[in-house]
Amino acid sequence: MSSRLPGFYRLALAERRRCLLESATLPADGFAAVDPGGLPLDVADGMIENVVGTYALPFAVAVNFCVDGVDVLIPMAIEEPSVVAAASNAARMARPAGFTTEVSAPVMIGQIQVTQVTDVDAGAAAVRAAAESLVEDARRLVPRLAERGGGPQRLEVRTLARSGPDGGMIVAHLHVDCRDAMGANLVNTLCEALADRIALLAGGRPGLRILSNLTDGRTVSVRCSIDDAQLACEGATGPEVRAAIAAASRFAELDPYRATTHNKGIMNGVDAVLVATGQDWRAVEAGAHAFACRGGTYGPLAVWRERAGGLDGELAMPLAVGTVGGALNHPGARLALQLAGVTQADRLAALAAAAGLATNLAALRALATEGIQRGHMALHARGLARAAGATGELVERVAAELAASGEVKADRAREVFARLRDGMVDLKFPGRTRPGGEFP
Ligand code: MEV
Repeated sequence: MSSRLPGFYRLALAERRRCLLESATLPADGFAAVDPGGLPLDVADGMIENVVGTYALPFAVAVNFCVDGVDVLIPMAIEEPSVVAAASNAARMARPAGFTTEVSAPVMIGQIQVTQVTDVDAGAAAVRAAAESLVEDARRLVPRLAERGGGPQRLEVRTLARSGPDGGMIVAHLHVDCRDAMGANLVNTLCEALADRIALLAGGRPGLRILSNLTDGRTVSVRCSIDDAQLACEGATGPEVRAAIAAASRFAELDPYRATTHNKGIMNGVDAVLVATGQDWRAVEAGAHAFACRGGTYGPLAVWRERAGGLDGELAMPLAVGTVGGALNHPGARLALQLAGVTQADRLAALAAAAGLATNLAALRALATEGIQRGHMALHARGLARAAGATGELVERVAAELAASGEVKADRAREVFARLRDGMVDLKFPGRTRPGGEFP
């Protein structure tokens, strides 16, 4: 399967489906999962409380991605125009060398807080001394996970306060390898099971028992390398664009105000994949931004450096995702995983991170050259052309004329569409002009 699908964006929706049915191994009715009503009300009703309906988002695939030597379609669900196009364009630039990733073991942290500890040093020491036996107890609670190579691995203790309104406070961290599960339920269950014993050992009261979303034991890093020839664009040479992107990276490294927006551009890609695949994107967002502060000030999750003849980019971030349990009852999420050929959580994390590095690259390249508004306007123009009634190739023609005129407005779109439609040469019988009406 090649993810290089030139002109995919120009196809009509039904043709895009046909093309994907051919390239990805999907059942003929596979896209029913993302048709309107694809999430049945009774399934939705079982997912959360007080359900009164379902809420749809556009579902798309980004093309051109090659991640760790394998071509892959990246499913994305997002309301923001340009993100899918940006990811696909950047993936095309990165395609010669592709994206390479390193994914850590899927280790999550569960926190067991203990308050009112009279002697925190003695309390912490007592819990540390029992750490091995506590981990053994926890492992016995998840025998099947342990059989699959996962499960509780170790327990460590941190002192948070010697005195104060809550007395002495310590926290035990239980590190759990969650394999292909995101692991929130699993980790929370284990924390609750151990809390009383840990509090007793520490000589205090059990407090919160909950996983930490700062999953710095479950991270992914992704790299790509772009040659100058790929970076060049109208009005700027490759080396100029390369230098401008490296400068934009340094800006983010020096300024938290810019780093926040830089990271937002990364999360455009990451979150779109997480939403499409039914993941807890709020958890990943929380962890990403805490990780971005790990040096003491908020910084960029991805940086770009110049090299002779090109640019190297690297993104590192925590990314806790799962391919079993949780929201995977969602039919659209199952289809998304199928389209991406994903069965394992580490592969999903790698793809989400590659999408994030791609959207970051596309944003920086646009910002460092012509700015992002022209691209946004082109997409907006296509939306207006469609809303005016244009279909097929007329969408591009109406949009191009709108963009060229600088008047990207609904009434102008209707006017241009009516004129082009009425004067359009019949596609089936070139040379003949159609007198308006329905278009093939
Ligand atoms: C917009 O959704 C994202 C950008 O602001 C990211 C960036 O500034 O790097 C374009």
